[in-house]
Amino acid sequence: MKPVPRYTPGLSFHFLTGLYDLFFSWFMPEREIRRAILNGLNLNGEERVLDLGCGTGTLAVHLARTHPLARLSGIDIDPRMLRQAETKSKAARVSLDLRPAGADRLPFDGESFDAVYSSMAFHHFPPDVKRGALRESGRVLKEGGRLMILDFGKPSGWLASACFFAAQCFDGFQTTRENRRGAIPLLMKEAGFANVRQTGLLETIFGTLALYRGDKMRGQ
Ligand SMILES: C[S@@+](CC[C@H](N)C(=O)[O-])C[C@H]1O[C@@H](n2cnc3c(N)ncnc32)[C@H](O)[C@@H]1O
Repeated sequence: MKPVPRYTPGLSFHFLTGLYDLFFSWFMPEREIRRAILNGLNLNGEERVLDLGCGTGTLAVHLARTHPLARLSGIDIDPRMLRQAETKSKAARVSLDLRPAGADRLPFDGESFDAVYSSMAFHHFPPDVKRGALRESGRVLKEGGRLMILDFGKPSGWLASACFFAAQCFDGFQTTRENRRGAIPLLMKEAGFANVRQTGLLETIFGTLALYRGDKMRGQ
């Protein structure tokens, strides 16, 4: 069997994984986060959509329910998170194509998705995986397809900066350094995305979240 590469679990420690949904709904502005991504995606009809680092699948399940014609896939490196996503999709009676995979090695053909999104996963990726995930997103997107990333961005002030420092103590400094510098849009541009822009900001008790969008260019 192929060894699973090292990764940071959703709540930093494996023994906390079962509490992820509870933690997220208590401490994060869950509704605002989901709404920001859904509005940004602006799905229409039978589009094929990929959730990168889908975790327990809350957003993918919500999307599948609200957009029954869309075809949803989700990947995550953590089999425990994926099991929760599977249970959730069965309970909601929606069909999700869930696969265990690293964000930098997507098990999909090129040009197969209309949209790719990622919520709160990029700050778990080490620098090389961030770049690999962006390269792979560009590969699997169709020309003109869109990429939305919601994650920690540059803190908006000293309080957000202090809060994010506390989050970094748990999630690790190596994976979060480029988030703190607000470098994700730069990395998106480096990966060849066009029209890269920040389309939203949300303050949380762990720091400032930013929503970024980029479009796949011809020949990317
Ligand atoms: C904080 S959780 C976010 C989950 C979900 N997207 C959400 O918004 O609730 C981060 C997720 O990224 C996943 N992850 C971490 N490293 C990964 C990698 N290299 N490839 C794919 N997923 C990864 C974790 O397993 C975890 O499920």
